[in-house]
Amino acid sequence: MNVLVVGSGGREHAIVWKLKQSPRVAKVYCAPGNAGISVDAECVQIKADDIYGLAQFAQTNAVGLTVVGSELPLVKGIVDLFEERGLTIFGPSRAAAQVEGSKMFLKHFLKRHTIPTANYETFNQSEIEKAKRHVMNFLPPYVIKTDGLAAGKGVAICQTKDEALTTVSEYFQDKVFGDAGNNIVIEEFMEGEEASVFAMCDGSDYVLLSPAQDHKRIGDGDTGKNTGGMGAYAPAPVVTKDILGRVERDIIKPTLEGMKAEGHPYKGCLYVGLMMTAAGPKVVEFNCRLGDPETQAVMPLIDSDVFELFHSCATGTVGTYSLTMKRSSAVCIVIASNGYPDEYATGKTIDGLEHVAKDVVVFHAGSKIKNGKIVTAGGRVLGVTALGDGLQSTIARAYAAVKSIKFDGMYYRTDIGKKGLSL
Ligand code: AMP
Ligand code: GLY
Repeated sequence: MNVLVVGSGGREHAIVWKLKQSPRVAKVYCAPGNAGISVDAECVQIKADDIYGLAQFAQTNAVGLTVVGSELPLVKGIVDLFEERGLTIFGPSRAAAQVEGSKMFLKHFLKRHTIPTANYETFNQSEIEKAKRHVMNFLPPYVIKTDGLAAGKGVAICQTKDEALTTVSEYFQDKVFGDAGNNIVIEEFMEGEEASVFAMCDGSDYVLLSPAQDHKRIGDGDTGKNTGGMGAYAPAPVVTKDILGRVERDIIKPTLEGMKAEGHPYKGCLYVGLMMTAAGPKVVEFNCRLGDPETQAVMPLIDSDVFELFHSCATGTVGTYSLTMKRSSAVCIVIASNGYPDEYATGKTIDGLEHVAKDVVVFHAGSKIKNGKIVTAGGRVLGVTALGDGLQSTIARAYAAVKSIKFDGMYYRTDIGKKGLSL
């Protein structure tokens, strides 16, 4: 069968790489892809959010399954469009993708179904004074979120009242996130360690991939600015068997039941962003797709056929899918361009990829081919993933591979996976 993967990052490269290993897959297309993906798939120059262009491509190229990597096409309704045209696609409908597309939708949903999360209030633009009064009534830190998608930047953690009041004005009056900030959520700050759990859902049933831990800050020791993610490892020992059981019982099952009962059954990957608080695991966020860079750690751990996993979710049969995960650890280190997540240079030649050990996989996130050479083309450039028997030695193998790669201004964190060693 021909398969189409939608997106152009490290996550999509990992999905393409794994799908290619399936005997059920004849050809993998990726739209739009990148230099690394073009080695494993045929890249087609259609933007990830051009949902009509993608549907037409799938129809004319006998695509039997489409797997959507990023949230934007999902929130735009790619799944609804494909299904109207009789095409099989992995991902939630537009209505179900609101779990990520609208923080207000998510918070109200969680509350209706008594799913553990931070306490919150929502405010619209005409309630700016009310929002400011709300801030005055609580102690810092404050967590202020735009309702809509803001390229991962719509969450402010404010340490002082002044900072919080300024943030409210920036969202509502200065419109720094445009319409995404027409409504805001102010919520309680949760203390604890974060982890991500991925439920692969078919509307009713689900299977769980290995829990993972991302490293969102740019600097070692979780310091500096928030990024898309600087590295990940899986399984994350902070999610013990007991915690995972609670996450299933208190979060995943009531979510699937609630979404179904409310008329938008959840199909696709439910990314559960968790905070391990003293009172147990609570929802920080849901995403309507797999994590990036967690996918680069989790995909290589899957032993069973990943085409069948995506296909069974898309067709409502995941209940009969038998998932097997390797009993290994996986560590993915992101190599970024110096300056990221702010301004950074591109077009730098990437050397040394051929020296990376054969059992380490390099997923490309922001690369392109220029004059026959692979050059940088993004903030996050590569995700280097090693697999091994213990976390410590796997971390060492991943870093050894990173050291054979070179480009001008390359930057990476040196402590990926370290948190998993102390548990
Ligand atoms: P979100 O986009 O909602 O995942 O938020 C981005 C990041 O902000 C999360 O990964 C957390 O590190 C942090 N965050 C969000 N909400 C909270 C909260 N209520 N308490 C503490 N940290 C939070
Ligand atoms: N790794 C964070 C995310 O995918 O949203």
